[in-house]
Amino acid sequence: MKVIAFLGSPREGGNSDLLLREVIGAVEESGSDVRLFHLNKMNIMPCQNCGGCDETGACIYDDDMTQVYDAIRSADRIILASPIFFFALSAQTKTMIDRCQAFWCEKYLLKKPIPEGPYKRKGLLLLVGGMKKEIGIQCAEATATAFFRTVSVPAHKTLSYRGVDAKGAILQHPVALKEASEAGKELITV
Ligand SMILES: Cc1cc2nc3c(=O)[nH]c(=O)nc-3n(C[C@H](O)[C@H](O)[C@H](O)COP(=O)(O)O)c2cc1C
Repeated sequence: MKVIAFLGSPREGGNSDLLLREVIGAVEESGSDVRLFHLNKMNIMPCQNCGGCDETGACIYDDDMTQVYDAIRSADRIILASPIFFFALSAQTKTMIDRCQAFWCEKYLLKKPIPEGPYKRKGLLLLVGGMKKEIGIQCAEATATAFFRTVSVPAHKTLSYRGVDAKGAILQHPVALKEASEAGKELITV
């Protein structure tokens, strides 16, 4: 089973990173490798809305998104981890998602969605926000849902944690790491 993960936080050892590591640990313990994309370290240009993908479903730009397109196309499981920044997904996460407009064209204009694959496709969304307000989580969830459906992931589970702000504060959360580990195991069940 091919599992890929996107870390959308710039903070190494931060809360999204720690949650994601827990998920990845559980997935790997169950026997599947995970290909991790550390979005903050990647060279991904924001979508230019050039229309280049409208008729082909392929982006005309060649940067680090090229490897992401290939990985998304062949993934059985997709994990997305992002902090909440200004009531939304982080810019690192959103930039990658916007470039998936190429998949949107392929699916909705060319009527060629990514095939379901042998294990069906499933997603896992991890969100961490420093504030107690829910609005940021709701906005991020809406965007992430649009992403998952665009790349033909029909269902995803979301784990979201609010009021977790300082670097590493998630380690003090009563259930977050356990839930992340369980979600990792659950993700790769067929
Ligand atoms: C630029 C910026 C904007 C932020 N905006 C929000 C916000 O709108 N809502 C919120 O709950 N937390 C906000 N936060 C706090 C982060 O979500 C919080 O620190 C989180 O734990 C960071 O996760 P990380 O350690 O995975 O990067 C913001 C932080 C930064 C740096």
